[in-house]
Amino acid sequence: MDLWRVFLTLALAVSSDMFPGSGATPATLGKASPVLQRINPSLRESSSGKPRFTKCRSPELETFSCYWTEGDDHNLKVPGSIQLYYARRIAHEWTPEWKECPDYVSAGANSCYFNSSYTSIWIPYCIKLTTNGDLLDEKCFTVDEIVQPDPPIGLNWTLLNISLPGIRGDIQVSWQPPPSADVLKGWIILEYEIQYKEVNETKWKTMSPIWSTSVPLYSLRLDKEHEVRVRSRQRSFEKYSEFSEVLRVTFPQMDTLAACEEGPKFNSQHPHQEIDNHL
Ligand SMILES: *[C@@H]1O[C@H](CO)[C@@H](O)[C@H](O)[C@H]1NC(C)=O
Ligand SMILES: *[C@@H]1O[C@H](CO)[C@@H](O)[C@H](O)[C@H]1NC(C)=O
Ligand SMILES: *[C@@H]1O[C@H](CO)[C@@H](O)[C@H](O)[C@H]1NC(C)=O
Ligand SMILES: *[C@@H]1O[C@H](CO)[C@@H](O)[C@H](O)[C@H]1NC(C)=O
Repeated sequence: MDLWRVFLTLALAVSSDMFPGSGATPATLGKASPVLQRINPSLRESSSGKPRFTKCRSPELETFSCYWTEGDDHNLKVPGSIQLYYARRIAHEWTPEWKECPDYVSAGANSCYFNSSYTSIWIPYCIKLTTNGDLLDEKCFTVDEIVQPDPPIGLNWTLLNISLPGIRGDIQVSWQPPPSADVLKGWIILEYEIQYKEVNETKWKTMSPIWSTSVPLYSLRLDKEHEVRVRSRQRSFEKYSEFSEVLRVTFPQMDTLAACEEGPKFNSQHPHQEIDNHL
C-alpha cells in the first residue's frame, strides 16, 4: 500500500515536471502510466491486451506514419472506436493543443498518416491513443528520431578487372537511392552499408558506410558465386532500412572471359527475391 503511494507521487511529480503549468490534463495522466509500468512490470502484463503504439516511422523526413496494435477487446476492434490525437511543441512553451489524426486511411489499418502538411522536422510531437476519452497509450518523439528509409533499389554490377589472371576479379557494384527519399531536393541525406559474401558462406562481410551509390569490390574468387546487398540510413543516425534484394554475381566462364576482354560488362542473374532482415 505504502509503496503504491510512493509510486504515484513519484509518477505525478515526474509528469508535472515534464508539463509545467499544464495541470492534470490527459497528457499528465498519460505520462504517469509509463513510469508506473517501468516500476511494476506486472501492471504492463495486466494491460497487455490494450491497443498500443507499435511504431512510428518516417521514410524520408517529409511524412510519417504511426501504427498500433488492435488489442484483445472486441469493442475496440470496431472501426472508429480508437482515436489518435497529436500535439506539437511549436514555441518554447509546451501547452499541448491536441488535434485528431488527419488521415486514418492512407497507411492501412490501425494507423495514422501525416502528410507533409502535418510534418515538421526537429519539432517534438506527442501522440496518444484514446477511446471515448480514455487514454490507452502515449509516445513522444521528433520526426528525425523516427527516420527509417526504404531499401535501395536497382543493385547491379560490372566487371572492372581480372586482377590475378584466371583466379580473382574486381567488380563495381552500384545501386539507386530508395525512390521515396528525395535525396536531391529533400531533407534526407543517406549513407549506405554494403555487405557481400560467397554464396556458400554464412557470414556477410560488412563495409563501412559510404555516401556514394557505387563501390568497387576487389579480389573476388572467379570460381565462386557471390552475393551482395545494401541498406541505407539517414546519415549519422542509427536506424537502417531493410536490406535491398540480394544481387547474385556469377563470373562468366574463362573461355567467355577471354573472348570478352575488350568490352568487359556482364549482367547479373536474376536477383533473389528474398529480403533478409538479419544482419
Ligand atoms: C495533407 O492532407 C490534407 C487533408 O488531410 C490536405 O488538405 C493537404 O492538401 C495534404 N497536403 C499535402 C501536401 O498533400
Ligand atoms: C545491370 O546493368 C546492365 C548493363 O548496364 C543492364 O543491361 C541490366 O539491365 C542491369 N540489370 C538490372 C537488374 O538493373
Ligand atoms: C588490374 O589489376 C592489376 C592488379 O591489381 C593492376 O595492375 C592493373 O592495372 C589493373 N588493370 C586495370 C585495367 O585496372
Ligand atoms: C554451395 O554448396 C553446395 C553444396 O553444399 C554445392 O552444391 C554448390 O555448388 C555450392 N555453390 C557454390 C557457388 O560454391
